[in-house]
Amino acid sequence: MPHDFMPGLAGVPAARSTISDVNGETGVLEYRGIRIEELTAKSTFLETAYLLLFNCLPTRLELEKFTGDVALHRRIKFKIVDMIKSLPEQGHPMDALQAAVAALGMFYPGRTVQDPENNYWSAVRLIAKLPTIVAAFARIRRGDEYVAPRDDFEFSENFLYMLSERRPDPIVCQIFDACLILHAEHTMNASTFCGLITASTLADPYTVVASAIGALKGPLHGGANEEVLAMLREIGTIQGVRSYLEAKLKAKQPLMGFGHRVYKVKDPRAVILQQLAQKLFTHCGKSPLYALAEETERVALELLSQKRVYPNVDFYSGIVYDAMGIPTDTFTSIFAMARAAGWLAHWLEQMKENKLYRPDQIYEGEHNRSYLPLDQRQ
Ligand code: CMC
Repeated sequence: MPHDFMPGLAGVPAARSTISDVNGETGVLEYRGIRIEELTAKSTFLETAYLLLFNCLPTRLELEKFTGDVALHRRIKFKIVDMIKSLPEQGHPMDALQAAVAALGMFYPGRTVQDPENNYWSAVRLIAKLPTIVAAFARIRRGDEYVAPRDDFEFSENFLYMLSERRPDPIVCQIFDACLILHAEHTMNASTFCGLITASTLADPYTVVASAIGALKGPLHGGANEEVLAMLREIGTIQGVRSYLEAKLKAKQPLMGFGHRVYKVKDPRAVILQQLAQKLFTHCGKSPLYALAEETERVALELLSQKRVYPNVDFYSGIVYDAMGIPTDTFTSIFAMARAAGWLAHWLEQMKENKLYRPDQIYEGEHNRSYLPLDQRQ
């Protein structure tokens, strides 16, 4: 059956799903029917991950078990730590994360993807171990020892502890946890689709998540949060905002952290992240980057709102992580740590009714060309 070609598959459904829904006109994002505003105010990242994976809010007992299972699987094999030590310090953390996650799968045999029990433990291991890998690479590359996880710390508290070896401030932990909730899932996007394509071949979940990490890395997707910080630093001063943005737009270059395929209003995650940034700065002092970001948003809206281009999730997240002392090139890995919950929820959903992805193409090349011997080619 012939179909119209849709560049970027824009608007083409790739799956049926009950995991999340986004209304790009009204700026509403729901996970399993619950709005993100409510989840960030009342839930935790791990509880939200459970909701995404299993389509219900856990009972107290279920939550205790899930939290305990994740805490017990935070450790990584010493061979994974050794592998991380052998990677170049100047290499990108997302490449280290992708390599380590792919390697993780080699340690867990019996990876049949039709066994619900096995799939549960794979999801637990991946959600538990990604933060350990991210923190390990962040430390090892700067010459510091890897810090082992603490089973008695909450999820976000443990990650921030593994980065700095200090017990983090509870307000900072709470804000960081809310950031993870906001990054945990976002319907059918490039990285989720990429993971599902890999999953459709019945590859193991470590390979699925490693594929998704690769797709998330690019600056048009998760990598934009790092680019936003680079852009703000390049702008430098409030006075420099307008001329910088005008020059970018004149050169037909996208403003990083702005625009979205689906949202035609301000991304609801950006709204919450901006509030979280304000809460963080009230608690631990203002960042000059925040004032610069607000002015950038104001001028960008003047220049771009006619095209319905508004700040997206990546615009304020980097400012929050930067104020927490996290290195800029680690931001996308944090996005990946959170999004693993969404990727795995989609993987579990697809495993119930899997069909190998095998799309079509519109062939525009030649037919029946003759093979020219090497010595006759110009
Ligand atoms: N800066 C300047 N102009 C923009 C931007 C932007 N960031 N985004 C869209 N536009 C313009 C675009 O040039 C086009 O103009 P015209 O009609 O004159 O050709 C118009 O707005 C419509 O945009 P589009 O290119 O059709 O939108 P798209 O759905 O193809 O692009 C996007 C979506 C995310 C690739 C794009 O907005 C972009 O490159 N943004 C910057 C990178 C970024 O922040 N990415 C993070 C996305 S959200 C989080 C995530 O997915 O990880």
